[in-house]
Amino acid sequence: MTQRKCPPAKYRSFLVALTVLFSAIASLSGQNASVNANTSKTEKYRLVWFEDPTTTATFVWNQLEGDPATLYYGLKNEGRNKSKYTERKEVDRVVEYDGMRNCMVTLESLKPDSWYFMCLGDGAGVSRLFYFRTAPKLPKPFTFICGGDSRNFRDIRQAANTMCRKLSPLFVAFTGDMISSDNAEGWNDWLDDWQLTMSDSGQLLPIVPHRGNHESRPESIPSHFGTSKDSYGAFNIGSGLFRYYILNSEIPADGSQGNWLRSDLEKNAQGITHLVAGYHKPMRPHTSGKALGRNSYKWAETFYKAGFDLVMESDSHVMKRTLPLKPFTGGGEDFKAAPNDPNATVYLGEGCWGAPLRRADVNYSWTVGTAAFNGFDWLHVTPGAIFDKTVKVGNVAQVGQVDPKNPYRNPKGLKLWAPNGGDEVLKIPAD
Ligand SMILES: [Fe+2]
Repeated sequence: MTQRKCPPAKYRSFLVALTVLFSAIASLSGQNASVNANTSKTEKYRLVWFEDPTTTATFVWNQLEGDPATLYYGLKNEGRNKSKYTERKEVDRVVEYDGMRNCMVTLESLKPDSWYFMCLGDGAGVSRLFYFRTAPKLPKPFTFICGGDSRNFRDIRQAANTMCRKLSPLFVAFTGDMISSDNAEGWNDWLDDWQLTMSDSGQLLPIVPHRGNHESRPESIPSHFGTSKDSYGAFNIGSGLFRYYILNSEIPADGSQGNWLRSDLEKNAQGITHLVAGYHKPMRPHTSGKALGRNSYKWAETFYKAGFDLVMESDSHVMKRTLPLKPFTGGGEDFKAAPNDPNATVYLGEGCWGAPLRRADVNYSWTVGTAAFNGFDWLHVTPGAIFDKTVKVGNVAQVGQVDPKNPYRNPKGLKLWAPNGGDEVLKIPAD
């Protein structure tokens, strides 16, 4: 039997110091490698914008077991070291719905145009790291994505969600019909697929949710996203640069929603460069398979009077771009082209995020182009104009990541729609 010799005393303190150093390095590198580990009982994360996204955001998750987690957050990336974050907040609301426990925390008084880092801590452990950017208060350019109708085909929905992640917009306006059947299975799948919009490092893309007709239960959007009961509202980005109206075409467009819209415009539309709205049911669908949107058409005159630049619709499962339009009831097409009218509105749509495509078999004198393919609109809001590119999502695997320094430059492999062989990029001037 050999006997181990103790190192001489003069080396002992050196060895202890070396061990401490090595374990510190190991723990640090473990921490970096594990920003996406999740030992908590939380899942199905979504960051929702519904009111003033320069200072406010609602984080929602499903709590699988135990008491609702606490959200730890701050302006400094502390990874999963929850105790190092400067702020913490308990849940504001827990909504039991579709077999999930939707936990909602609304963060307020955030700093505009800033990255926030956060993680969840519950009785079981700590979630992965998340981070997101608040909207700017200064009128600086930004990008956003708008589209809808992700109902049926999960592979296409997943491709479109992955494309969102690659284009890394400031937010995603989702104009309704997330699910085909408004039930637990539909929402569980949809929320799982939404995780594909999050980057590997944990960047969350804020969603601005709108209600479609397939959200047949009025409470399903509020229960999954923490919106107001009737799911309509408005917010500014860049102060006077942009005001966005989330409208609900599944309830009366007049009545209390219409009154709110008109009075809000009276109070808040003055001096706004770009007024933009999104909702589900198009006023004039570009497919024969859909009835005219007589309810949403009640907004047309209001949009025109207030000088909306852009309106985004969904529901028909075709793509369309229109000329700038003015409501006009004399020609049988509800609108007429008014390209030089500063109050005229461009309409985009109509919902191709995985729902069954329809034939784009209806065209009007004011239609720029229609087609049937899977995709969404990618917009760049600048003080001088809004630019639109319609993105095809089928080849997402071949598409590179957008350059954060050039957030509207096409990444490698990106395929865009050129309506009727014309321009891929539509310019909607500020006027
Ligand atoms: Fe629909």
